[in-house]
Amino acid sequence: MFELVRVVSKGEAEALVVGVFKDRKLDSATRALDADGSIALAAARPECTGDVGRIAEAYPPGRGHNRVLIVGLGDRAKFNPGSLRTIGGALGRRLAQTKDSRVDIELAGALTDAKPRIKADFAGRCLGEGLGLIAWNFTRFKGKGTPDRPKKTPLFVRSSDGAFQEGLERGLALAASTNIARDLSETPPNIATPAYIAVQARAMAKAVGLSCRVMEEKELEKERLIGLLNVGKASENRPCMIRLEYTPKSAGRKSKGDKPIVLIGKTMTYDTGGLSIKPTPGMAGMKRDKDGGCAVLGAMHAVATVIKPDQRVVALLAVAENSISDEAYRPDDIIVYRNGVSVEVTNTDAEGRLVLADALIWACEKESPACIVDLATLTGGVVTALGSTFAGMFCEDDRLRERLQRAMDTSGERWWRLPHDQEYNDMMKSNSADIVNSNPNRKAHPIQGAAFLSFFVDKSVPWAHIDIAGVHAVDSDSGPFIKGPTGWGVRLLADFLTR
Ligand code: BES
Ligand code: MN
Ligand code: ZN
Repeated sequence: MFELVRVVSKGEAEALVVGVFKDRKLDSATRALDADGSIALAAARPECTGDVGRIAEAYPPGRGHNRVLIVGLGDRAKFNPGSLRTIGGALGRRLAQTKDSRVDIELAGALTDAKPRIKADFAGRCLGEGLGLIAWNFTRFKGKGTPDRPKKTPLFVRSSDGAFQEGLERGLALAASTNIARDLSETPPNIATPAYIAVQARAMAKAVGLSCRVMEEKELEKERLIGLLNVGKASENRPCMIRLEYTPKSAGRKSKGDKPIVLIGKTMTYDTGGLSIKPTPGMAGMKRDKDGGCAVLGAMHAVATVIKPDQRVVALLAVAENSISDEAYRPDDIIVYRNGVSVEVTNTDAEGRLVLADALIWACEKESPACIVDLATLTGGVVTALGSTFAGMFCEDDRLRERLQRAMDTSGERWWRLPHDQEYNDMMKSNSADIVNSNPNRKAHPIQGAAFLSFFVDKSVPWAHIDIAGVHAVDSDSGPFIKGPTGWGVRLLADFLTR
């Protein structure tokens, strides 16, 4: 789509973006830009409906902008700030066609009448996210077989409203972090092996000033990170655990000693199901079983480049490939974790929880975490339950949940709460070990996953588990996303870490 999208204040713009609500009344700021009345004329045409993202155009004669995009903002009295992401996506799609590369975005005036009211910087941020997200595409593997690849061009945007423009910049930066997660998600499993993820994490950490440690097989053995070792056993692409850390610049002795927030990501570079092999239609797409880790990586990028919180943040990526060979771990194996919990493997396709267990134990034992949030494409069951609208969220700590709620309100990445309960924990009981990794009945799969994980988290540590199997990708273009990965969680976690 675009080579890049950036805010630049200088230079003449070819195109102008203004907004109208469904009542199609132009606000005074927009009228002031309409010297010859061509915007008012276009706004009166029937195709200018004011529906969210619907665009009508005016072509003012004379000097100045040669194209005006009049974009619909929806219903004035029931304004939804999140729709500005969709609007940004719609504008980006159109601008990629018109090939305008310099654009003035003057929506702040129109938005002053929105109800509920929206602040200009937040409006700019949402629009910037939409533009930055729609800019993403993945052409790395387009080759000689695609002779007429569209040329990527840059898009430069600006706004005369300072707060709106600052927001634009922030939104574009958050989208850039999200797009890092999407690039990795889209990278195929023959390239994106655990070692590749480690190289990418190291490079990213170096570029933005995070510390990075990769625990490879020897260290996994030494540290008895037994879930990773077992799940990764069948693949010649060996597993690893990646640890990233952000320390605030301003870190006095106090904040250095502060307990960090720990983010954990399931990073299965491919999930065949193992010996409990997936049927063909269920296997394709399992390159995206690393999307929890990809989102955590993107969030750490945002932490280092945009959020810069006054608090330590640690990321743990549990990285493995769930493959098949004579060395594969099997149904009926029993493995004993370093916290003493024994697990009978009933299904090698319930592998995510086995590697997350290592990271959760590690976090509780080694990081003295203020809280833990894990993201994982854990179960198909959550897709059945919530589709691609909400992630499934499990958290029994009121304060942590409230903080995640605020982050969902601002990021638009939405989750729905699902329960923990002793009865679900009881479902995980094993005859010969402490617990099984999956109860063979078909009940409450996403909740079973969360129940399993709870055996590896200290009761005193506030913890949230977010099952993103339904939301990490979309199967058709929607809002600011094209078919493919959404980078779900990068912006939720970024806002979660914003004070
Ligand atoms: N990676 C899958 C879950 C998944 C399914 C992610 C669809 C994205 C889209 C996970 O490892 C898995 O296989 N889960 C099993 C669990 C079952 C064996 C308890 C599932 O959901 O069927
Ligand atoms: Mn699986
Ligand atoms: Zn999986």
